[in-house]
Amino acid sequence: MNAKNASAKKSASQAVVTFVDTPNKRSFEFPIIKGTIGPDVIDVRKLYAETGYFTYDPGYTSTGSCESQITYIDGDEGILLYRGYPIEDLAEHSTFMDVCYLLLYGELPTQEQHAKFEHDITYHTMLNEQINYFFRGFRRDSHPMAIMCGVVGALSAFYHDSTDITNPRHRMVASYRLIAKMPTIAAMAYKYSQGQPFIYPRNDLGFSENFLHMMFATPCETYDINPVLSQAMRRIFILHADHEQNASTSTVRLAGSSGANPYACIAAGIASLWGPAHGGANEAVLNMLGEIGSTNRIKEYVDKAKDPKDAFRLMGFGHRVYKSYDPRAKVLQAECHKVLKELGITDEPLLDLAMELEQIALSEPYFIEKKLYPNVDFYSGIILRAMGVPTSMFTALFALARTVGWVAQWNEMIEDPTQKIGRPRQLFTGEPERKYVPLDRRK
Ligand code: CMC
Repeated sequence: MNAKNASAKKSASQAVVTFVDTPNKRSFEFPIIKGTIGPDVIDVRKLYAETGYFTYDPGYTSTGSCESQITYIDGDEGILLYRGYPIEDLAEHSTFMDVCYLLLYGELPTQEQHAKFEHDITYHTMLNEQINYFFRGFRRDSHPMAIMCGVVGALSAFYHDSTDITNPRHRMVASYRLIAKMPTIAAMAYKYSQGQPFIYPRNDLGFSENFLHMMFATPCETYDINPVLSQAMRRIFILHADHEQNASTSTVRLAGSSGANPYACIAAGIASLWGPAHGGANEAVLNMLGEIGSTNRIKEYVDKAKDPKDAFRLMGFGHRVYKSYDPRAKVLQAECHKVLKELGITDEPLLDLAMELEQIALSEPYFIEKKLYPNVDFYSGIILRAMGVPTSMFTALFALARTVGWVAQWNEMIEDPTQKIGRPRQLFTGEPERKYVPLDRRK
């Protein structure tokens, strides 16, 4: 089979692409669908029924899996919009609650809506007390992401009153619970690893402040919240809140497409996020900087990254969609300097190393040609480390911030009248049907 010559043409009514199946001397037209911005898409939903062909696109590099109105990325220009608002403006001016409301409901809240939303989220921050015992089943040295996967999945066993996914009210209650309880779960995972008692949420604090409190207060001592640090935490949360159809969001959508329980779907998203090619990169960046150790070893590591025979990659560099500087990394680079200044850290070898590595990599033809720029994970780890967050917690923080994106996308999917169970097809290259050989006759 050899189909070629796909060409776009415009008819009076609808733009179509003509697909010419040369071996079979047939041609077919497929509609082009236009979005508000971004590349148009070829609607191939009837491709198999009409032509007998599937498309083949491992890694979905050319495949739109859904229609969405939530987040838009222009990877060439380095633009990221949540519901049309540039990420830089939201990071500068919005509260995290503002952004959560925007992602869930499509508009920035009025003052009244903001106050009610913040109140509603705040009053869902506590966990069912029984979950404390669930935590105690984990080893103390468990990775926080392993605990997050387990505990979030287990929420489906605790909250039975909001699992009718066809009921918008149930969906919102589950969404609010997830946004509200994720910081509590993440902070508990940290406390558990430290052998410290869990710190309950405080409803008089904002979202970021409360998280810092649950992480760093103890029953013996309150934690004085530094506004520069809570500001940085707020920005980290906003920058990580959504990122269209990335691996973990697509996992949440795929899990949810079967009608699965919302908590189980988010646990699936957490599992996908954990990988070092995705959210796990923030932890991997710090480990890599530690391994490089000093600026005079940068060249050695850049050479390793360039070597096609070496699997090593510069962590925090490159992105499937961004082929220019990740706009989130720009915001975080500036934030990094503010945090270190506030904490009086004038000499942070890892920051010096990161900045020099960035300069060297950005001037290397290999990175220029492949359009590999620093991504969001490159600077976030240095900020978190300066705040006292251990490296193993970095991806858990990403997960807690991304939860709002996951639930917004999950709700959008369920409300989409064209939604079907996700079920990709394959190019089969294994054995065709063959005759069964009984055990005693096998050679
Ligand atoms: N260091 C060295 N080479 C790289 C890197 C890197 N960080 N990233 C990509 N390349 C090379 C890669 O070897 C390939 O070369 P070639 O064409 O010669 O085979 C080319 O660039 C294209 O890479 P790819 O793997 O085909 O691109 P992708 O879109 O499938 O992967 C990525 C994107 C993010 C997984 C990849 O760039 C990577 O592994 N980066 C390091 C991990 C990282 O920082 N991940 C965080 C992503 S941002 C946070 C998030 O949204 O999850």
